[in-house]
Amino acid sequence: MIMLRKAIVGLGAGALLFGSAACGADDGDGSGGDSGEGLVVGFAQVGAESAWRTANSDSVQAAAEADDRIDELKFVDAQQEQEKQIEAIRNFITQQVDVIVLAPVVETGWTDVLGEAETAGIPVVLADRGIEAADEDLYVTRLGSDFVEEGRKAGSWTVETFGGGETTRILELEGTVGSAPANDRKTGFYEVLDGEGLDYELVDSQSGDFTAEGGKSVMETFISTHGLEEVDLLYAHNDEMGLGAIQAIEEAGFEPGTDVQIIIVDGSKAGFEAGVDGKVNYIVECNPVFGDQLMDVVVQVDAGEELEKFTPVEEGVFGPDDFEDELPNRQF
Ligand code: AHR
Repeated sequence: MIMLRKAIVGLGAGALLFGSAACGADDGDGSGGDSGEGLVVGFAQVGAESAWRTANSDSVQAAAEADDRIDELKFVDAQQEQEKQIEAIRNFITQQVDVIVLAPVVETGWTDVLGEAETAGIPVVLADRGIEAADEDLYVTRLGSDFVEEGRKAGSWTVETFGGGETTRILELEGTVGSAPANDRKTGFYEVLDGEGLDYELVDSQSGDFTAEGGKSVMETFISTHGLEEVDLLYAHNDEMGLGAIQAIEEAGFEPGTDVQIIIVDGSKAGFEAGVDGKVNYIVECNPVFGDQLMDVVVQVDAGEELEKFTPVEEGVFGPDDFEDELPNRQF
């Protein structure tokens, strides 16, 4: 019987800078590469900016741990910094991992480092976020959400809810500047609003970096700059920013969900609780729990199997009638 050594090696970005010896030590031979028993996978994760992200890291780590085909997962939390992800990838190349999994913080700036992985003969799988089309040849496949579609879902609800009335005044809390979900959720949303001819005005749109603190502070600025009396809708690109904004709205003496309607994207427990409390009006789901599927993809990629360039994960939408029933089902 083959004895599999299971190792989930978590490296904070700081540890990554100074601790590459610790990575290599896991394989015993200093290379960190395939011991012949199972795959060694390097995962450069975005960070820990949201409940979604934590659930995604947990899902991937648990799946790797439970999967006999995976010998070791080298996990790096890049603290939302592309430079740290680039450094992690270079370390994975030095350690000769079998497959690199990258959840790219932003869409651009990957050509050089992914070219280095290609030269080293290490296949790259994108998890969650995508990169710009020009670099499409530098990864094998992407498993994650269709962010444009998520934006379209938010747009469709907006048209259904506000269409035919007076001008709809919108505030938008965007995700991390340059990230695929921020770019695509915006694209899909306005594609539907413009396509359906909704009479709307974008009062303001700024990035809250996908964090609750960012969402709160940008919302405070929105309120002090524009007031809230004339605003109909807040479109927040994720739960955390929406929840932060709700605090700012309440502190300013307004009723979230009533004085201003709110769309959030993700579908965390906290987001659904806000929905049950009447503070959120529509939730577009973004599903982080795809660790098992990701391990299958990693194994297929290592075996050189042909895969679709993009595999979307399944996702739904939820309105006020669904919030209470759906809350117990939420996994994060
Ligand atoms: O890339 C997925 C997005 O990243 C999620 O919507 C958000 O919560 C996370 O930070």
